[in-house]
Amino acid sequence: MILLEKKERYRVAVAGATGAVGREMISILEERNFPVGELIPLASSRSRGKRLMFRGAEVEVRELAEDSFAGVDLALFSAGGSVSRQFAPAAVRSGCIVIDNSSAFRMEKDVPLVVPEVNPGALGERLGIIANPNCSTIQMVVVLKPIHDRYRIRRVVVSTYQAVSGSGQKAVDELVAQSAGLLNGEDAACKVYPHQIAFNCLPHIDEFLDSGYTREEMKMVHETRKILEDDAIQVSPTAVRVPVFNAHSESINVETEKPIGAEEVKRLLAGAPGVEVVDDPAKKEYPLATRAAGKDAVFVGRIRDDISATNAVNFWVVADNLRKGAALNAVQIAELLLARMDR
Ligand SMILES: NC(=O)c1ccc[n+]([C@@H]2O[C@H](COP(=O)([O-])OP(=O)(O)OC[C@H]3O[C@@H](n4cnc5c(N)ncnc54)[C@H](OP(=O)(O)O)[C@@H]3O)[C@@H](O)[C@H]2O)c1
Repeated sequence: MILLEKKERYRVAVAGATGAVGREMISILEERNFPVGELIPLASSRSRGKRLMFRGAEVEVRELAEDSFAGVDLALFSAGGSVSRQFAPAAVRSGCIVIDNSSAFRMEKDVPLVVPEVNPGALGERLGIIANPNCSTIQMVVVLKPIHDRYRIRRVVVSTYQAVSGSGQKAVDELVAQSAGLLNGEDAACKVYPHQIAFNCLPHIDEFLDSGYTREEMKMVHETRKILEDDAIQVSPTAVRVPVFNAHSESINVETEKPIGAEEVKRLLAGAPGVEVVDDPAKKEYPLATRAAGKDAVFVGRIRDDISATNAVNFWVVADNLRKGAALNAVQIAELLLARMDR
């Protein structure tokens, strides 16, 4: 367990720096002017010597190893669960604080699972590994939190429409190749997904469990309860991969203990941190993946009373899965660590 020491500038490592999330992390550190003294991009041996741009200069990618973290203050991990399991504890032993994007440590009791707009207090005082939640969970809880605080949520039914960038760069390439191939009369080659993703929807993300739910769906159940600190919230998700390049969409139905109404929810969410309400159906205004991509906010619209139940509302939530769903949330956690030292 470590305390971050106050400094002018920090040595920051990004493990998985050449990946879809890692690249986004590096550009967000630059964009938000995070006080990086030295950036250390780490990836597999395949990427050793590659060069990435940071603040107008080339930085060489190093191979991730147990000794990569000597003298490093902060490490942002996005190289998958097995890499995190292997290297994050070594980084902590070197005195480094780890913000981990994988699912490896999220449900461990002593690991804070943090969305800065929702549960900044979960960060605690003494730190080692801090987990970044699953992308679909992050954008959902940013919207659920103010509703839960005011009306107390009993049950959430959510269907996701998840972009292919959530499966990494290879999946983006597969959607491009299949779309072009099919339009030219060729067969679709499936490598990343078990079925054709172009012009299709796959109700299958991650492994199926005995319950019939997938691991991705169960992450939304367990992580929502941990972040909102309420094990009584019932969550029933269906996670679907759709042929969208970037930004996940979610159709959400929420049942609450106290009486709730759509107009009041609109006003509540309009003032909620990290949320932007886009809800003017008469003008065809509602959140869209194409508009959310590249943005920081979690967009919500189609807010309406549920005609089939009392104390229930429906809405549509969209956010950039590589930014708020991963890299931005991780950098915001790092910013929270720094802000706390100034208090
Ligand atoms: N994409 C999303 O929306 C999203 C959202 C939330 C969380 N995440 C999580 O973030 C992680 C990365 O996702 P991604 O979409 O960025 O994947 P990606 O595009 O496939 O990138 C994977 C990165 O991990 C590195 N890597 C793989 N094996 C390694 C090893 N043995 N040692 C060192 N580095 C290794 C790769 O390096 P090379 O280039 O050298 O192979 C690359 O930099 C995953 O845990 C994922 O679940 C992703």
